[in-house]
Amino acid sequence: MRELQASINPLREGIAASSAPSPCAFVIFGATGDLTHRKLVPAIYNLAHEGQLPTNFALVGFARRPKTHEQFRDELRAAVTEHSRFQPINPTVWDSLSQRIFYLQSDFGDPKGYEALDGFLKKLDRDRGTAGNRIFYLAAAPAEFETIIDQLRPSGLIQNSNSWQRIVVEKPFGSDLATAERLNSVLAGVFDERQIFRIDHYLGKETVQNIMALRFANEIFEPLWNQKYVDHVQITVAESLGVETRGGYYDQAGALRDMVQNHMLQLLALTALEPPVSLEAGAIHDEKAKVLKAVRLMAPDQVSQFTIRGQYERGSIAGQSVAGYRSEKNVAPDSCTETFVALKLLIENWRWAGVPFYLRHGKRLVKGVAEIAVQFKAAPAVLFAKEGCAPLSPNVLALRIQPDEGIAIRMNAKVPGTVMNIQPVKMDFRYGGSFGVRAPEAYERLLHDAIVGDSTLFTRRDEVDRSWQMIDAIRNGWRTASPPVPYESGTWGPPEADEFIQKDGRQWRRP
Ligand code: BG6
Repeated sequence: MRELQASINPLREGIAASSAPSPCAFVIFGATGDLTHRKLVPAIYNLAHEGQLPTNFALVGFARRPKTHEQFRDELRAAVTEHSRFQPINPTVWDSLSQRIFYLQSDFGDPKGYEALDGFLKKLDRDRGTAGNRIFYLAAAPAEFETIIDQLRPSGLIQNSNSWQRIVVEKPFGSDLATAERLNSVLAGVFDERQIFRIDHYLGKETVQNIMALRFANEIFEPLWNQKYVDHVQITVAESLGVETRGGYYDQAGALRDMVQNHMLQLLALTALEPPVSLEAGAIHDEKAKVLKAVRLMAPDQVSQFTIRGQYERGSIAGQSVAGYRSEKNVAPDSCTETFVALKLLIENWRWAGVPFYLRHGKRLVKGVAEIAVQFKAAPAVLFAKEGCAPLSPNVLALRIQPDEGIAIRMNAKVPGTVMNIQPVKMDFRYGGSFGVRAPEAYERLLHDAIVGDSTLFTRRDEVDRSWQMIDAIRNGWRTASPPVPYESGTWGPPEADEFIQKDGRQWRRP
């Protein structure tokens, strides 16, 4: 079993074996927000539960609202109780962790707050053995990022001694190429690239990490993974949720920037990359960056041909009526923000020439599901056509990212009986069934890696720049194109998205 696991996930095994976490203080800027409650602290608790936190560890929340250490701990306990994957909460684990949780109140632009933070962390070094090592986690509103980063060096929080300091930057990383480049320059003024961890939580998902294992730990797929055998690739991230409480942010961002620039282009890069020379962070980043550089940039007049955007209207999902996008809280009543996007991207390199990558993402679709489906060319039909069989379905290899994480292969088989009748059947591997354990949450893996200093599952500056270049090119074309087309909530998106792929002689999958 152990051998099997190692071959399925060499990244995780390799890291677990080689890197014990060193002591550190984990400082969250914007510690009173939703992200801290729903994701960060439950992930830290889960790591504590798994014995994966360093013994000398402290968590320090830094935010504007006044609060005592005790109040902060109580709020976090409630958050962990609601969001941890370990239920019920283990009082021994929580008590031990909560004694290492602290809160400091300050405005993000106030130098005195940072001096106080520096003094507090130095005291923790003495009392709790955190050794001068720090992780600064930017979970505040993006508009505050620059202000926070600018304060770190003058206040003495970045040291050049034997300790280490790292910064984790949440999305959105900029809102276009210019703002992302600016944020990168501000970061580079304070940190080396190896100290910067740009988070993309999709890279922490178990099945996403498994793309590398599937491709490079098996001999049967890689020889077929190219333009000779692959007809096209479909990457789908469908959500049944709407914008929930995030209308203000989302109405500015839209689906393309919210999901495609980061998560979906990372999925594309991992699916399409060349074998890296090793599993080291730099080697993987090099290959991802090469793929992104090979994606053809759309000229403004090509954008209508290569993209479709939509916006949800009212409808019904799982029997519940849901409101249209323009009636959501903090969304402009005449908003033209897209909540659905479909793209056709071409990777202009030897391996993928002529193989379209179709990306599709939307909110308020039929269901929440994410997958990467590699559709192979159809086998020559000559033999079975002569027998009067229906046209053969092409083979599909589908990686289910969520839910029901796993891998399925569609192939053709003969229906039992006296006549030759061929029908597609499915071979299905499910993580839950095969390994019997629940995969860790994406944030667990990523926070652990930031603590041990492994940036493999984070994004590098050149990847981010190139992704924004692609997104800017599309948005540039959209400026003069017609607005998003409406679609009913609870469907697979606008009918125009079906026509978009059908004109290439292909169909969207209904995963
Ligand atoms: C976030 C987006 O990055 O990812 C959200 O801002 C989206 O709009 C979320 O809902 C999806 O993540 P997951 O892990 O639920 O698929």
